[in-house]
Amino acid sequence: MYTNTVMDHFTNPRNVGEIENADGMGEVGNVKCGDIMRMYLKIEGDIIVDVKFKTFGCGSAVASSSISTELIKGKTIKEALALTNREVITALGGLPPVKVHCSVLAEQAIKAAILDYANKNNLVFEELAGFNPDELDHEH
Ligand code: FES
Repeated sequence: MYTNTVMDHFTNPRNVGEIENADGMGEVGNVKCGDIMRMYLKIEGDIIVDVKFKTFGCGSAVASSSISTELIKGKTIKEALALTNREVITALGGLPPVKVHCSVLAEQAIKAAILDYANKNNLVFEELAGFNPDELDHEH
């Protein structure tokens, strides 16, 4: 049911934890399963130099957040904003259909963390137009 990559990132998740005085922090949840994901970003210039996560959720959510941190670390904000849950699933080698929403949480948590950074620094990213972590569509 789960790929080796999913199992690997679930049993040995990368970049777990918090960043003190993070430049951006995003928290999203899914009301149906009750899972919660938090992403912390350290940003220098427009580069995400460090990222950590805490996920209170299922194994697919842990694996999705873990691999997402690897996908955006060292990347520009624009590149991180372009990360889709489909790319997260591809990087994991696939997720069962009922677990697709877990990867959506990872995409949303990154966007929420970047939005937090943007709000703190009076920046506007057009990719985040209309994105509101408090009013997410939880029907994925
Ligand atoms: Fe909801 Fe995985 S079951 S995040």
